[in-house]
Amino acid sequence: AAKAAGKLWFGTAADIPGTGEPEDFYYMQEFNNTHDFGEATPANIMKFMFVEPEQGVFNFTGPQEFLDVAHATDKYVRCHNLIWKSELPTWVTAPAVPWTNATLSAVIYEHVYNIVEHFGDQCYSWDVVNEAFADSPAGSYDNSSIFYDVIGPAYVVEAFQAATDAVRNNSLSVKLFYNDYNIEYLGNKSSAAQALVSDLKARDIQIDGVGLESHFIVGETPSQASQEANMRAFTALGVNVAVTELDVRLPLPPTAADETQQVADYYSTVAACVAVDGCIGVTVWDFDDTYSWIPSTFAGQGYGDLFLQPGGANTPLVKKAAYDGCLEALTGA
Ligand code: G3I
Repeated sequence: AAKAAGKLWFGTAADIPGTGEPEDFYYMQEFNNTHDFGEATPANIMKFMFVEPEQGVFNFTGPQEFLDVAHATDKYVRCHNLIWKSELPTWVTAPAVPWTNATLSAVIYEHVYNIVEHFGDQCYSWDVVNEAFADSPAGSYDNSSIFYDVIGPAYVVEAFQAATDAVRNNSLSVKLFYNDYNIEYLGNKSSAAQALVSDLKARDIQIDGVGLESHFIVGETPSQASQEANMRAFTALGVNVAVTELDVRLPLPPTAADETQQVADYYSTVAACVAVDGCIGVTVWDFDDTYSWIPSTFAGQGYGDLFLQPGGANTPLVKKAAYDGCLEALTGA
C-alpha cells in the first residue's frame, strides 16, 4: 500500500542486536514478513557509544548485523545516527584532557567520515545530526550538548561537511538527513530546521532530507493539514521529508475512546505523508508495545505502537486498530 501510494516504504525501528527483539520469535516473524515493513531503522546499535567506544576504535559488528538482517528481507535502512548529545561514550563526555574547538571538531569529522565511508550505500540515508534544537526557547540550539558547548552551532555544519566529503570522495548515493522532534508542525523549532537546510545548501553541503520524528500523544497529534503544511515548507526548500519515529502514546490502561482517537492520530500522520510528494515514507518507532521506549520514559503511559503481545514477550502478536488506521491512510480508504 505504501508503494502504491508512491512512497518508498512503510518501516519500523528495531533494536537488533539489542534488548530482546532478536530472540523473540513472534517479533522477528513480523519484522521479517515482507508485506508490512519495507524499511528498518536501528533503534540503538549505530549510536556513537557503540560504534566508536574508544577514540579511533570503530566497532562495525552490531551495525552490520542490523544491516544484514534488514537486507535479508530487502528493506531500506535509515541509518541512525551520527552526531547526537545522547549515547556518547565517556571518552567524549568526560575527556582526560578538556576538548578545544579544534580537538572536538576533529572527533566529529573522523567519526562521521569513517562511518559514512565504511557503510557506504548499504544505508539508504544517515541521520547525520539528531535533535540539535531546543524546545525552550523553541528553535534555539540545544545547549546541553557537549558539541554545542565546545563548538557552538558550527558543529552541525561540520558534521554535515564531513558526511558530504565522505559521500563525494567515494561517489556514494547515500542520502543525508537532519532528524528532530517537535518540528512536525509550523513554529519556531520547525523554522530553525528550515533555516539549517537553507544554510547547508548555501554552503554547498549535502542535505537531502529532514526526519520528522512524530512521537505524538493521543489527541494532541497535529492535524493532517498542519502536518502537510509543515512538510511542504521543507520540500519547498528542495529536500525530502520522512516521518521517522512515529508512535502515539496514551495513559494506561487504554480506554475505548483513547484507542479510537489513536487510530485517527495515526491516520492523520500517514495521510499527510501520502498527500505530500516529497514525503518519502513513514517509519514507526518500533511496532510492538513490548519493546517500546515509551513506558520507561513516560511513567504510566504506553500502548503507542501498532501491535501488542497480550501473552507477554515471545508470544503471538495481535494487530491493533491503529494498524488499520495506517493502512486506510495509505490506501485512501
Ligand atoms: O540494553 C540495556 C540493558 O542491558 C540495561 O539493563 C538497561 C538498563 O537501563 O538499559 C538498556 O539500554 C537502554 C537501551 O535503550 C535499550 O533499551 C538504554 O539504557 C536506553 O538509554 C536506551 O534508550 C534508547 C534511547 O533512544 C536513547 O538512546 C531507546 O531504546 C530508543 O528507542 C531511543 O530512541 C530515540 C531516538 O534515537 C531519537 N529520537 C527519540 C527516540 C526516543 O527517545
